[in-house]
Amino acid sequence: MLDFLGTLQRTHTCGELRAGDAGKDVVLMGWVNRRRDHGNLIFLDLRDRSGVTQIVLDKDISPEGHAKAEQVRPEYVVAAKGTLRRRDTSALNPKMPTGEVELVANELSVLNDSRVPPFSPAEDAIANEEVRLQYRYLDLRRPEMQANFALRHRVALAIRNYLSAQGFLEIETPFMTRSTPEGARDYLVPSRVHPAHFYALPQSPQLFKQILMISGFDRYFQIVRCFRDEDLRADRQPEFTQIDLEMTFPQQETIFAVVEGFLKAAFHEAGVDLVGGFPRMSFDEAIRLYGIDKPDMRLPAMTDVRSVISPQTAGTLKTTAALPVIAVRIPNVGELSRKERDDLRLLYPQKVATQKIRALDDFKRLEKSFPEEMAKVRTATGAQEGDLLVLVVADGETVPEQRVVGKRLPPRDRELFEAAGQVRLALAQQFASRHRAFEKKGTADDYKFLWVTDFPMFEWDEDGKTWIAAHHPFTSPDEDDLKAGRLTSDPGAVRALAYDIVLNGTELGSGSIRIHQRAVQSEIFRALGMTDEEAKERFGFFLEALTYGTPPHGGIALGLDRIAMILAGAPSLREVIAFPKTAKAIDLMVDAPTPVSDTQMRELHIRPVLKG
Ligand code: AMO
Repeated sequence: MLDFLGTLQRTHTCGELRAGDAGKDVVLMGWVNRRRDHGNLIFLDLRDRSGVTQIVLDKDISPEGHAKAEQVRPEYVVAAKGTLRRRDTSALNPKMPTGEVELVANELSVLNDSRVPPFSPAEDAIANEEVRLQYRYLDLRRPEMQANFALRHRVALAIRNYLSAQGFLEIETPFMTRSTPEGARDYLVPSRVHPAHFYALPQSPQLFKQILMISGFDRYFQIVRCFRDEDLRADRQPEFTQIDLEMTFPQQETIFAVVEGFLKAAFHEAGVDLVGGFPRMSFDEAIRLYGIDKPDMRLPAMTDVRSVISPQTAGTLKTTAALPVIAVRIPNVGELSRKERDDLRLLYPQKVATQKIRALDDFKRLEKSFPEEMAKVRTATGAQEGDLLVLVVADGETVPEQRVVGKRLPPRDRELFEAAGQVRLALAQQFASRHRAFEKKGTADDYKFLWVTDFPMFEWDEDGKTWIAAHHPFTSPDEDDLKAGRLTSDPGAVRALAYDIVLNGTELGSGSIRIHQRAVQSEIFRALGMTDEEAKERFGFFLEALTYGTPPHGGIALGLDRIAMILAGAPSLREVIAFPKTAKAIDLMVDAPTPVSDTQMRELHIRPVLKG
């Protein structure tokens, strides 16, 4: 028979009592973390969100309580009433914050029992994540998860407070709305009242926040859920949370200062005090030095060493020194075993095999054959004893014709840099335990931020044979490129006033200065292959809003889940989202999505189209 709470009042939490509290009469409530039966003495470790306290049931002091404790099992919910006492010196537990005290119970109430759980919340996470997600309520009881959510809460609060102090207003925007083009598929909500009409869940509040600027709110932010139907990965969930903001009359630097400010406030909550401003790098530079637009700055950049390779050597290596010859250096790797060396090529991305790009990874042999040139490579890369060096080269001797557009990188060069960037990341991951750059010290040094600027405005979509917006179509093109007429003459060369904030190789956020003039917005839609009619049909309301005195404005959105994940040192967003979805977008606990009844379908004017 279970006990009722009655008038019993909890006096303390399970994590707060210390030696100074000895002698107090207390009532603790919580879950039984562990139980040890020593005959006349039974010990219960009682757990709640704040920690664990040891309860002693002594048969001589409370025969009734002791009898109940004999029946109690892990995850039972109990209340213990008694006096706190200091533990004997021999029983002190320095590993527990409450390890100097124990509660000697004279009363034990069993408020609820528990079936034997499929895994113990008192232990580390089990490997089977599906079971963890199915029994998420048990998984979330684990102290590690509780700490993740406490951290996430503090981070969000610090950001809210910071932005509020800077004059930003948090304003909510609709979830049931029209499609916003952020590059993913929409989640749609059918309308009952309007047959064959659908709302789209927002991929971001992009257009609403721009309209709030048109409305004169000056500084808007929102910690807001966004929805995207896209392929999921460790750092992507179908619903996720953005720290979304927009400002009127900003320069790029105005926005950077706000973001740096709130990130410092957020990191402070995790015990990390960031100092100084974050470095900036153009997109082209990021590709040239890191082969990617989200460089992991914890490792050295790549070096284009084509200038030190003679045409003859290039010929012997079956490449051409006219194209980049990219030295990738991973520090402190040490000697590779024969097997590790043989296995290196298994690490390389497909690109390296299929796009006529090779990785030359036997640097010792290269040094034997071309001592002078390879010595120069060593100097150029700053390689030290024990560093791993790999050269990434084009496979083939002829220089392809490259149309150099504007100031951008020639396409073949870019391909090589990007392939080398992937080689660099694959090697870095493989030897992460050796090169020490990924070792966590818990200091500001572990967090390498970077602003990447001057993104291209458009990317060429080979499948659709059209230009698509590299960020989104509301991003302002560079004013010089616009004035020079490149939108029509050379779209690939147009730079955007777009920027990303990157941390340790993860894109934390993206933003841009927006288009605020209707004519420019229409021109961009046209450059994206949209007819004026199509633009009007999709974005007519917005094009019209732009005609009523729209101020220059700009903003950014950062992934709150990603920030929490990195600060928690977690491998996936699922560790910092209470009820996440699997890679197949399923919620295993509530079992969603589910089929719905025929009646509901009929009401929504939906008939399933069965395959086959
Ligand atoms: P963007 O699409 O780059 O920009 O998104 C901004 C940031 O949101 C996070 N993010 C995600 N996090 C988890 N799961 C996902 N599926 C996911 N998708 C995006 C990332 C990303 O950097 N409206 C623009 C912003 C702007 O221009 O102001 C936008 O949404 O951290």
